[in-house]
Amino acid sequence: MQDYSLDAYWMPFTANRQFKSAPRMLVSAQGMYFKDDAGRQILDGSAGLWCVNAGHTRTPIVEAVQRQVAELDYAPPFQMAHPKAFEAAERLAEMAPAGLSKVFFVNSGSEAADTALKMAVAYHRVRGDAARVKLIGRERGYHGVNFGGISVGGIAGNRKHFPVGLPAVDHLRHTHDLARNAFSRGEPEYGAEWADELENRILTLHDPSTIAAVIVEPMAGSTGVLIPPKGYLKRLREICDRHGILLIFDEVITGFGRLGADWAANRFDVLPDILTCAKGLTNGTVPMGAVLVKPDIHDAFMAAAGERAIEFPHGYTYSAHPLACAAAVATLKLYQDEGLFERAARLSPHFEEKAHALRAAPYVKDVRNLGLVAGIELESRPGAPGQRGFDAFLKCWEKGVLLRFTGDILAVSPPLIIDEAQIDTLFGTMAEALSEIA
Ligand SMILES: Cc1ncc(COP(=O)(O)O)c(C=O)c1O
Repeated sequence: MQDYSLDAYWMPFTANRQFKSAPRMLVSAQGMYFKDDAGRQILDGSAGLWCVNAGHTRTPIVEAVQRQVAELDYAPPFQMAHPKAFEAAERLAEMAPAGLSKVFFVNSGSEAADTALKMAVAYHRVRGDAARVKLIGRERGYHGVNFGGISVGGIAGNRKHFPVGLPAVDHLRHTHDLARNAFSRGEPEYGAEWADELENRILTLHDPSTIAAVIVEPMAGSTGVLIPPKGYLKRLREICDRHGILLIFDEVITGFGRLGADWAANRFDVLPDILTCAKGLTNGTVPMGAVLVKPDIHDAFMAAAGERAIEFPHGYTYSAHPLACAAAVATLKLYQDEGLFERAARLSPHFEEKAHALRAAPYVKDVRNLGLVAGIELESRPGAPGQRGFDAFLKCWEKGVLLRFTGDILAVSPPLIIDEAQIDTLFGTMAEALSEIA
Protein backbone atom coordinates (compact mmCIF):
# COMPACT_ATOMS: atom_id res chain seq x y z
CA MET A 1 0.00 0.00 0.00
CA GLN A 2 1.24 3.46 -0.88
CA ASP A 3 1.84 5.43 2.33
CA TYR A 4 2.59 8.79 0.75
CA SER A 5 0.79 11.32 -1.39
CA LEU A 6 2.03 12.58 -4.75
CA ASP A 7 1.06 16.16 -3.97
CA ALA A 8 4.09 17.79 -2.38
CA TYR A 9 6.82 16.81 -4.80
CA TRP A 10 7.12 19.28 -7.71
CA MET A 11 9.00 17.14 -10.20
CA PRO A 12 11.84 18.56 -12.33
CA PHE A 13 11.59 18.64 -16.14
CA THR A 14 8.43 16.57 -15.88
CA ALA A 15 4.87 16.87 -17.10
CA ASN A 16 3.76 16.73 -13.45
CA ARG A 17 0.04 16.33 -14.10
CA GLN A 18 0.53 13.60 -16.68
CA PHE A 19 2.94 11.75 -14.39
CA LYS A 20 0.71 11.95 -11.36
CA SER A 21 -2.21 10.62 -13.38
CA ALA A 22 -0.22 7.44 -14.17
CA PRO A 23 3.01 7.33 -12.13
CA ARG A 24 6.10 5.52 -13.39
CA MET A 25 7.77 4.58 -10.15
CA LEU A 26 11.20 2.96 -9.95
CA VAL A 27 11.91 1.17 -6.68
CA SER A 28 15.17 -0.69 -7.17
CA ALA A 29 17.84 -1.38 -9.76
CA GLN A 30 20.57 -3.85 -10.58
CA GLY A 31 22.91 -4.15 -13.53
CA MET A 32 20.97 -3.37 -16.73
CA TYR A 33 17.55 -3.29 -15.08
CA PHE A 34 15.30 -1.15 -12.96
CA LYS A 35 12.38 -2.68 -11.11
CA ASP A 36 9.13 -0.72 -10.92
CA ASP A 37 6.57 -0.68 -8.10
CA ALA A 38 4.58 -3.42 -9.83
CA GLY A 39 7.65 -5.67 -9.74
CA ARG A 40 8.32 -5.38 -13.49
CA GLN A 41 11.89 -5.53 -14.82
CA ILE A 42 12.65 -2.45 -16.93
CA LEU A 43 15.60 -2.59 -19.32
CA ASP A 44 17.57 0.62 -18.86
CA GLY A 45 18.06 2.04 -22.34
CA SER A 46 19.17 5.44 -21.10
CA ALA A 47 21.73 4.66 -18.36
CA GLY A 48 19.34 6.41 -15.99
CA LEU A 49 19.82 9.90 -17.36
CA TRP A 50 23.03 9.25 -19.33
CA CYS A 51 24.92 8.61 -16.11
CA VAL A 52 24.89 4.96 -14.98
CA ASN A 53 27.63 3.86 -17.38
CA ALA A 54 28.75 0.85 -15.30
CA GLY A 55 25.22 -0.40 -14.62
CA HIS A 56 23.22 -0.17 -11.44
CA THR A 57 24.11 -0.80 -7.77
CA ARG A 58 27.61 -2.02 -8.57
CA THR A 59 29.14 -3.53 -5.44
CA PRO A 60 32.52 -1.73 -5.41
CA ILE A 61 30.81 1.66 -5.65
CA VAL A 62 28.08 0.82 -3.14
CA GLU A 63 30.63 -0.42 -0.63
CA ALA A 64 32.94 2.55 -1.11
CA VAL A 65 30.09 4.97 -0.39
CA GLN A 66 28.92 2.94 2.59
CA ARG A 67 32.41 2.90 4.08
CA GLN A 68 32.85 6.60 3.47
CA VAL A 69 29.61 7.73 5.08
CA ALA A 70 30.47 5.78 8.20
CA GLU A 71 34.00 7.16 8.37
CA LEU A 72 33.88 10.81 7.27
CA ASP A 73 30.41 12.01 6.34
CA TYR A 74 31.36 15.59 5.54
CA ALA A 75 34.38 17.88 5.52
CA PRO A 76 34.31 21.59 4.66
CA PRO A 77 36.00 22.19 1.31
CA PHE A 78 36.95 25.86 1.88
CA GLN A 79 40.43 26.22 3.44
CA MET A 80 40.13 22.52 4.46
CA ALA A 81 40.18 19.18 2.69
CA HIS A 82 40.15 15.42 3.08
CA PRO A 83 42.37 12.79 1.41
CA LYS A 84 39.72 11.34 -0.90
CA ALA A 85 39.38 14.71 -2.65
CA PHE A 86 43.00 14.57 -3.75
CA GLU A 87 42.75 10.90 -4.67
CA ALA A 88 39.65 11.50 -6.78
CA ALA A 89 41.23 14.50 -8.53
CA GLU A 90 44.42 12.58 -9.24
CA ARG A 91 42.56 9.59 -10.63
CA LEU A 92 40.39 11.79 -12.82
CA ALA A 93 43.38 13.79 -14.09
CA GLU A 94 45.19 10.54 -14.94
CA MET A 95 42.20 9.37 -16.94
CA ALA A 96 41.53 12.77 -18.56
CA PRO A 97 42.62 13.76 -22.06
CA ALA A 98 46.38 14.38 -21.84
CA GLY A 99 47.02 18.01 -20.95
CA LEU A 100 43.98 18.58 -18.74
CA SER A 101 45.62 18.01 -15.40
CA LYS A 102 43.91 20.34 -12.91
CA VAL A 103 40.54 19.43 -11.45
CA PHE A 104 37.91 21.64 -9.81
CA PHE A 105 35.01 19.73 -8.22
CA VAL A 106 31.35 20.77 -8.33
CA ASN A 107 28.08 18.89 -7.83
CA SER A 108 26.41 18.70 -11.22
CA GLY A 109 26.76 19.34 -14.91
CA SER A 110 25.01 22.68 -14.55
CA GLU A 111 27.46 23.83 -11.91
CA ALA A 112 30.33 22.55 -14.03
CA ALA A 113 29.15 24.69 -16.96
CA ASP A 114 28.77 27.85 -14.91
CA THR A 115 32.09 27.22 -13.19
CA ALA A 116 33.83 26.78 -16.54
CA LEU A 117 32.35 30.02 -17.89
CA LYS A 118 33.40 31.96 -14.78
CA MET A 119 36.85 30.42 -14.96
CA ALA A 120 37.23 31.44 -18.61
CA VAL A 121 36.29 35.07 -17.99
CA ALA A 122 38.40 35.30 -14.82
CA TYR A 123 41.38 33.65 -16.54
CA HIS A 124 41.62 36.41 -19.12
CA ARG A 125 41.24 38.99 -16.39
CA VAL A 126 44.03 37.63 -14.19
CA ARG A 127 46.29 37.75 -17.23
CA GLY A 128 45.47 41.42 -17.75
CA ASP A 129 43.07 40.84 -20.67
CA ALA A 130 39.92 42.01 -18.89
CA ALA A 131 38.12 42.98 -22.10
CA ARG A 132 37.50 39.34 -22.94
CA VAL A 133 34.12 38.82 -21.35
CA LYS A 134 31.87 37.48 -24.12
CA LEU A 135 30.80 33.87 -24.31
CA ILE A 136 29.76 32.00 -27.43
CA GLY A 137 27.47 28.98 -27.24
CA ARG A 138 25.53 27.15 -29.90
CA GLU A 139 21.92 26.64 -30.92
CA ARG A 140 20.57 23.36 -29.57
CA GLY A 141 23.35 23.28 -26.99
CA TYR A 142 22.50 22.17 -23.45
CA HIS A 143 24.71 23.24 -20.58
CA GLY A 144 22.35 22.71 -17.70
CA VAL A 145 19.86 25.04 -16.14
CA ASN A 146 21.75 27.73 -14.26
CA PHE A 147 21.80 31.26 -15.62
CA GLY A 148 25.20 30.90 -17.27
CA GLY A 149 24.27 27.57 -18.80
CA ILE A 150 20.94 28.71 -20.21
CA SER A 151 22.53 31.91 -21.53
CA VAL A 152 25.06 30.04 -23.67
CA GLY A 153 22.66 27.13 -24.19
CA GLY A 154 20.49 27.05 -27.24
CA ILE A 155 17.22 25.42 -26.27
CA ALA A 156 14.45 27.93 -26.83
CA GLY A 157 12.05 26.15 -24.49
CA ASN A 158 14.53 26.29 -21.62
CA ARG A 159 15.07 30.02 -22.08
CA LYS A 160 11.65 31.48 -22.76
CA HIS A 161 10.47 31.35 -19.14
CA PHE A 162 13.62 33.17 -18.02
CA PRO A 163 14.12 36.12 -20.34
CA VAL A 164 17.13 37.40 -18.44
CA GLY A 165 20.59 35.99 -18.78
CA LEU A 166 24.20 36.89 -19.28
CA PRO A 167 24.35 39.99 -21.47
CA ALA A 168 27.49 39.27 -23.47
CA VAL A 169 26.55 36.11 -25.29
CA ASP A 170 26.10 34.96 -28.87
CA HIS A 171 25.43 31.61 -30.53
CA LEU A 172 26.76 29.57 -33.40
CA ARG A 173 24.19 27.74 -35.47
CA HIS A 174 23.64 24.07 -34.70
CA THR A 175 25.11 21.35 -36.89
CA HIS A 176 21.98 19.33 -37.56
CA ASP A 177 21.50 19.00 -41.31
CA LEU A 178 19.02 16.27 -42.19
CA ALA A 179 18.84 17.28 -45.83
CA ARG A 180 22.47 16.26 -46.32
CA ASN A 181 23.18 13.88 -43.45
CA ALA A 182 20.07 11.77 -42.73
CA PHE A 183 20.82 8.17 -41.72
CA SER A 184 24.53 8.81 -41.26
CA ARG A 185 26.45 6.09 -39.51
CA GLY A 186 28.92 7.69 -37.12
CA GLU A 187 30.15 11.18 -37.91
CA PRO A 188 28.14 12.83 -40.67
CA GLU A 189 29.99 13.68 -43.86
CA TYR A 190 28.79 17.25 -44.33
CA GLY A 191 28.92 20.36 -42.19
CA ALA A 192 32.52 21.10 -41.12
CA GLU A 193 31.95 24.50 -42.69
CA TRP A 194 29.38 25.39 -40.03
CA ALA A 195 32.41 26.06 -37.81
CA ASP A 196 33.56 28.83 -40.15
CA GLU A 197 30.58 30.86 -39.03
CA LEU A 198 32.52 31.54 -35.83
CA GLU A 199 35.16 33.45 -37.73
CA ASN A 200 33.07 34.80 -40.60
CA ARG A 201 30.07 36.08 -38.70
CA ILE A 202 30.49 36.03 -34.92
CA LEU A 203 34.05 37.24 -34.63
CA THR A 204 33.48 39.87 -37.29
CA LEU A 205 30.46 41.13 -35.44
CA HIS A 206 31.99 41.16 -31.96
CA ASP A 207 35.71 41.77 -32.34
CA PRO A 208 37.62 38.65 -31.34
CA SER A 209 39.53 40.46 -28.60
CA THR A 210 36.31 40.72 -26.57
CA ILE A 211 35.57 37.00 -26.59
CA ALA A 212 36.53 34.85 -23.62
CA ALA A 213 35.38 31.39 -24.70
CA VAL A 214 33.39 29.19 -27.01
CA ILE A 215 31.46 26.39 -25.31
CA VAL A 216 30.01 23.39 -27.12
CA GLU A 217 28.98 19.86 -26.39
CA PRO A 218 31.19 17.81 -28.73
CA MET A 219 28.03 15.80 -29.41
CA ALA A 220 24.80 17.56 -28.47
CA GLY A 221 23.01 14.96 -26.37
CA SER A 222 19.92 16.46 -24.79
CA THR A 223 18.62 18.11 -27.95
CA GLY A 224 18.52 14.83 -29.78
CA VAL A 225 21.94 13.25 -30.34
CA LEU A 226 23.53 15.60 -32.87
CA ILE A 227 26.81 14.02 -33.90
CA PRO A 228 29.44 16.56 -35.02
CA PRO A 229 30.18 16.57 -38.75
CA LYS A 230 33.61 15.28 -39.75
CA GLY A 231 36.26 17.95 -39.17
CA TYR A 232 33.90 20.43 -37.47
CA LEU A 233 35.46 20.38 -34.00
CA LYS A 234 39.00 20.60 -35.39
CA ARG A 235 38.00 23.73 -37.26
CA LEU A 236 36.48 25.29 -34.16
CA ARG A 237 39.74 24.57 -32.33
CA GLU A 238 41.83 26.21 -35.06
CA ILE A 239 39.69 29.35 -35.11
CA CYS A 240 39.81 29.68 -31.31
CA ASP A 241 43.58 29.28 -31.41
CA ARG A 242 43.96 31.98 -34.04
CA HIS A 243 42.12 34.47 -31.83
CA GLY A 244 43.22 33.62 -28.29
CA ILE A 245 39.77 32.29 -27.40
CA LEU A 246 39.36 29.42 -24.94
CA LEU A 247 37.50 26.34 -26.16
CA ILE A 248 35.30 24.59 -23.61
CA PHE A 249 33.95 21.09 -24.21
CA ASP A 250 30.93 20.11 -22.17
CA GLU A 251 31.50 16.36 -21.83
CA VAL A 252 28.78 15.77 -19.25
CA ILE A 253 27.25 13.16 -21.57
CA THR A 254 30.15 12.30 -23.87
CA GLY A 255 32.68 11.57 -21.11
CA PHE A 256 33.33 8.15 -19.63
CA GLY A 257 33.03 5.94 -22.66
CA ARG A 258 29.70 6.94 -24.20
CA LEU A 259 31.11 7.50 -27.69
CA GLY A 260 33.20 4.34 -27.75
CA ALA A 261 36.26 6.20 -26.45
CA ASP A 262 37.06 7.51 -23.00
CA TRP A 263 36.30 11.13 -23.98
CA ALA A 264 34.92 12.90 -27.02
CA ALA A 265 38.12 14.98 -26.97
CA ASN A 266 40.08 11.80 -27.67
CA ARG A 267 37.45 10.36 -30.03
CA PHE A 268 37.71 13.46 -32.22
CA ASP A 269 41.34 14.22 -31.42
CA VAL A 270 40.63 17.79 -30.37
CA LEU A 271 41.88 19.04 -27.02
CA PRO A 272 39.77 21.77 -25.39
CA ASP A 273 41.27 24.23 -22.88
CA ILE A 274 38.54 23.44 -20.37
CA LEU A 275 36.41 20.30 -20.12
CA THR A 276 33.35 19.78 -17.95
CA CYS A 277 32.03 16.42 -16.82
CA ALA A 278 29.52 15.01 -14.30
CA LYS A 279 27.00 12.13 -14.55
CA GLY A 280 29.26 9.10 -15.26
CA LEU A 281 31.90 10.49 -12.90
CA THR A 282 30.21 8.70 -10.01
CA ASN A 283 28.10 6.34 -12.13
CA GLY A 284 25.16 8.48 -11.09
CA THR A 285 25.36 7.37 -7.46
CA VAL A 286 26.27 10.63 -5.72
CA PRO A 287 25.92 14.06 -7.34
CA MET A 288 29.27 15.29 -8.62
CA GLY A 289 30.73 17.25 -11.49
CA ALA A 290 34.20 18.46 -12.37
CA VAL A 291 35.93 21.07 -14.45
CA LEU A 292 39.28 20.01 -15.91
CA VAL A 293 41.71 22.61 -17.18
CA LYS A 294 45.13 22.94 -18.72
CA PRO A 295 47.80 23.74 -16.12
CA ASP A 296 48.47 27.13 -17.75
CA ILE A 297 44.98 28.25 -16.81
CA HIS A 298 45.35 27.11 -13.22
CA ASP A 299 48.84 28.59 -12.96
CA ALA A 300 47.69 31.99 -14.23
CA PHE A 301 45.38 32.24 -11.21
CA MET A 302 48.18 31.21 -8.85
CA ALA A 303 50.59 33.74 -10.32
CA ALA A 304 48.13 36.62 -10.12
CA ALA A 305 47.17 36.31 -6.46
CA GLY A 306 49.09 37.08 -3.29
CA GLU A 307 50.48 34.16 -1.26
CA ARG A 308 47.57 34.04 1.20
CA ALA A 309 44.86 35.20 -1.18
CA ILE A 310 42.05 32.99 -2.49
CA GLU A 311 43.00 32.70 -6.15
CA PHE A 312 39.55 31.79 -7.53
CA PRO A 313 36.68 32.94 -5.34
CA HIS A 314 34.27 30.19 -6.31
CA GLY A 315 33.13 26.84 -4.90
CA TYR A 316 30.21 25.05 -3.27
CA THR A 317 29.51 23.74 0.22
CA TYR A 318 29.48 20.29 -1.31
CA SER A 319 32.47 20.62 -3.66
CA ALA A 320 34.53 17.44 -3.30
CA HIS A 321 31.98 15.95 -0.90
CA PRO A 322 33.53 12.86 0.74
CA LEU A 323 30.74 10.56 -0.48
CA ALA A 324 31.05 11.85 -4.03
CA CYS A 325 34.83 11.49 -3.95
CA ALA A 326 34.58 7.92 -2.64
CA ALA A 327 32.05 7.12 -5.36
CA ALA A 328 34.23 8.72 -8.05
CA VAL A 329 37.36 6.82 -7.01
CA ALA A 330 35.47 3.51 -7.02
CA THR A 331 33.70 4.30 -10.30
CA LEU A 332 36.80 5.29 -12.23
CA LYS A 333 38.57 2.17 -10.97
CA LEU A 334 35.62 0.02 -12.02
CA TYR A 335 35.60 1.52 -15.53
CA GLN A 336 39.26 0.60 -15.85
CA ASP A 337 39.11 -2.82 -14.19
CA GLU A 338 36.27 -3.92 -16.45
CA GLY A 339 37.55 -2.17 -19.58
CA LEU A 340 34.12 -0.65 -20.08
CA PHE A 341 35.14 2.05 -22.56
CA GLU A 342 36.75 -0.59 -24.77
CA ARG A 343 33.65 -2.72 -24.36
CA ALA A 344 31.52 0.18 -25.61
CA ALA A 345 33.76 0.46 -28.66
CA ARG A 346 33.53 -3.30 -29.31
CA LEU A 347 29.75 -3.32 -29.07
CA SER A 348 29.19 -0.26 -31.20
CA PRO A 349 29.08 -1.98 -34.66
CA HIS A 350 26.30 -4.30 -33.44
CA PHE A 351 24.55 -1.37 -31.76
CA GLU A 352 24.81 0.61 -35.00
CA GLU A 353 23.36 -2.26 -37.07
CA LYS A 354 20.37 -2.65 -34.78
CA ALA A 355 19.78 1.09 -34.49
CA HIS A 356 19.73 1.53 -38.26
CA ALA A 357 17.33 -1.39 -38.66
CA LEU A 358 14.76 1.02 -37.18
CA ARG A 359 14.81 2.87 -40.49
CA ALA A 360 12.09 0.43 -41.57
CA ALA A 361 9.82 1.27 -38.62
CA PRO A 362 6.92 3.73 -38.96
CA TYR A 363 7.58 7.51 -38.68
CA VAL A 364 11.38 7.19 -38.59
CA LYS A 365 12.94 10.06 -40.52
CA ASP A 366 16.49 9.72 -39.23
CA VAL A 367 18.74 7.37 -37.31
CA ARG A 368 22.14 8.58 -36.14
CA ASN A 369 24.65 6.94 -33.86
CA LEU A 370 28.14 6.91 -32.43
CA GLY A 371 29.61 4.56 -29.84
CA LEU A 372 26.75 3.49 -27.58
CA VAL A 373 24.40 6.35 -28.34
CA ALA A 374 21.71 6.61 -30.97
CA GLY A 375 19.11 9.19 -31.87
CA ILE A 376 15.93 8.14 -33.64
CA GLU A 377 14.09 11.12 -35.09
CA LEU A 378 10.39 10.68 -35.82
CA GLU A 379 8.07 12.59 -38.12
CA SER A 380 6.07 14.93 -35.90
CA ARG A 381 2.34 14.42 -35.70
CA PRO A 382 0.79 17.30 -37.67
CA GLY A 383 0.02 20.19 -35.35
CA ALA A 384 1.32 18.34 -32.30
CA PRO A 385 5.12 18.35 -32.21
CA GLY A 386 6.57 16.20 -29.43
CA GLN A 387 3.44 14.14 -28.86
CA ARG A 388 4.54 11.17 -30.94
CA GLY A 389 7.87 11.10 -29.13
CA PHE A 390 6.06 11.14 -25.80
CA ASP A 391 3.76 8.31 -26.94
CA ALA A 392 6.73 6.24 -28.14
CA PHE A 393 8.45 6.75 -24.79
CA LEU A 394 5.28 5.70 -22.91
CA LYS A 395 4.74 2.65 -25.15
CA CYS A 396 8.35 1.51 -24.60
CA TRP A 397 7.89 1.95 -20.85
CA GLU A 398 4.73 -0.18 -21.03
CA LYS A 399 6.81 -2.81 -22.80
CA GLY A 400 9.57 -2.71 -20.19
CA VAL A 401 12.18 -0.43 -21.77
CA LEU A 402 13.27 2.97 -20.47
CA LEU A 403 14.39 5.55 -23.03
CA ARG A 404 14.80 9.32 -23.21
CA PHE A 405 12.94 11.53 -25.61
CA THR A 406 13.35 15.14 -26.65
CA GLY A 407 10.42 16.34 -28.67
CA ASP A 408 10.05 13.70 -31.36
CA ILE A 409 13.58 12.37 -31.01
CA LEU A 410 14.22 9.19 -29.03
CA ALA A 411 17.64 8.84 -27.47
CA VAL A 412 19.19 5.47 -26.68
CA SER A 413 22.24 5.41 -24.38
CA PRO A 414 22.38 2.20 -22.33
CA PRO A 415 24.91 1.36 -19.62
CA LEU A 416 28.15 0.18 -21.20
CA ILE A 417 27.69 -3.26 -19.62
CA ILE A 418 24.82 -4.03 -22.02
CA ASP A 419 25.19 -7.26 -24.05
CA GLU A 420 24.21 -8.03 -27.63
CA ALA A 421 20.96 -9.77 -26.74
CA GLN A 422 19.91 -6.78 -24.64
CA ILE A 423 20.76 -4.45 -27.52
CA ASP A 424 18.46 -6.57 -29.72
CA THR A 425 15.68 -6.36 -27.12
CA LEU A 426 16.11 -2.61 -26.82
CA PHE A 427 15.76 -1.84 -30.52
CA GLY A 428 13.25 -4.67 -31.10
CA THR A 429 10.99 -3.18 -28.44
CA MET A 430 11.31 0.25 -30.02
CA ALA A 431 10.27 -1.15 -33.41
CA GLU A 432 7.23 -2.81 -31.84
CA ALA A 433 6.32 0.33 -29.95
CA LEU A 434 6.51 2.46 -33.09
CA SER A 435 4.22 0.07 -34.93
CA GLU A 436 1.64 0.40 -32.15
CA ILE A 437 1.39 4.18 -31.81
CA ALA A 438 -0.38 6.65 -34.03
C1 LIG B 1 25.92 18.39 -21.88
C2 LIG B 1 25.26 18.64 -20.56
N1 LIG B 1 25.68 19.65 -19.80
C3 LIG B 1 25.14 19.91 -18.61
C4 LIG B 1 24.11 19.13 -18.13
C5 LIG B 1 23.49 19.46 -16.81
O1 LIG B 1 23.82 18.51 -15.87
P1 LIG B 1 23.03 18.44 -14.47
O2 LIG B 1 21.64 18.01 -14.81
O3 LIG B 1 23.83 17.46 -13.69
O4 LIG B 1 23.07 19.80 -13.87
C6 LIG B 1 23.64 18.06 -18.88
C7 LIG B 1 22.54 17.22 -18.39
O5 LIG B 1 21.97 16.43 -19.09
C8 LIG B 1 24.21 17.82 -20.13
O6 LIG B 1 23.79 16.83 -20.92
